[in-house]
Amino acid sequence: MSEINKSFPFEVKDVDETQLKQLKNYYDDTYFNLFMTRFGPKGYLLTQSYETIGRDIYNVKIRPTDIFVTTFPKSGTTWTQELVWLIANDCNFEEAKAINLNNRFPFIESEILLNSAASKFLAKDNTLKTSSEINLPSVEMVNNLPSPRFLKSHLPLSLLPPSLLDTCKVVYVARDPRDVAVSFYHHNLHINFFSEEKDFKTFWNFFTNDLVSWTPFFEHIKEAWQQRHHRNMLFLFYEELSKDLPGCARRVAKFFNKVITDEQVQELCDHLNIDNFKKNKSVNLEDLKEIGLLNKKGSFIRKGKVGGWRNHFDEEMTRQAEQWIEENLRDTDLRFPQ
Ligand code: A3P
Repeated sequence: MSEINKSFPFEVKDVDETQLKQLKNYYDDTYFNLFMTRFGPKGYLLTQSYETIGRDIYNVKIRPTDIFVTTFPKSGTTWTQELVWLIANDCNFEEAKAINLNNRFPFIESEILLNSAASKFLAKDNTLKTSSEINLPSVEMVNNLPSPRFLKSHLPLSLLPPSLLDTCKVVYVARDPRDVAVSFYHHNLHINFFSEEKDFKTFWNFFTNDLVSWTPFFEHIKEAWQQRHHRNMLFLFYEELSKDLPGCARRVAKFFNKVITDEQVQELCDHLNIDNFKKNKSVNLEDLKEIGLLNKKGSFIRKGKVGGWRNHFDEEMTRQAEQWIEENLRDTDLRFPQ
């Protein structure tokens, strides 16, 4: 085995040509890479550029003080990052409001998202002072960050450094796939990944056929679920955050060996309330709207509801979704809280 294979022991497979065509017809790839390569035995779908960056990420030297929030996209990552950051930083609301979450908590593989046309567009824009303002840290930058590092990733555990869980704390958040898919679809509308309105049903078919970035969805979650009792893993559900945010805040505090008062819990819940979150410039990505990377039609912090998928699924889709979820949960005790 070569040095390269040793440091990134994953199979890389092309996506089927017909499927690739379907993706190309559906998406607008002016600024985005189309996700067209599969990695590892589970075949996670990521952009081709991941092949280079992925190896660097896999080899990032993990420090005991690192804190990771890892999720499948649109599962409540931002919400959880802010909760985790505040608890780990003794409820420093002032700093949380003053410094953009993307800078406090960089997205480790964000480089894989945009293509060179987007980079040129962003470089042209004089309002943009540093690349970190648009959340594009390089792996090199991550390696040079001072401790403690707060890092976000949508990669499954198997694609992250193998020493991760034995070395530092990881919070994983899972969410009902139907709500994830609806949220992802709206996100794609908001980031101009569709040149025109596209139907949700096609997106849902892509989602269940592992043709959406970071899928297969259930493999992603099951990898983390299997590790949920690891001393360094806190496994949360979006549905739990939604139902009992104070309880979740206490669980997070306990996980990080932090004492928080009832007053702080109350303050945290106010700060993390969706109405306040929508107005919070440190987390709502309004700056990306200003530079034109996100369009003005949507908002990054959107509905924030459990079960909103019901408004997007017809009877046939509902039945098919139930069956798909049931099949995927058959060999596991993982269940999404209602
Ligand atoms: P919806 O699109 O269903 O509204 P991520 O941060 O992983 O991209 O997840 C985005 C989802 O989390 C969106 O879901 C968003 O609205 C929701 N979300 C973000 N902040 C939230 C909050 N404070 N309370 C509830 N949901 C929130």
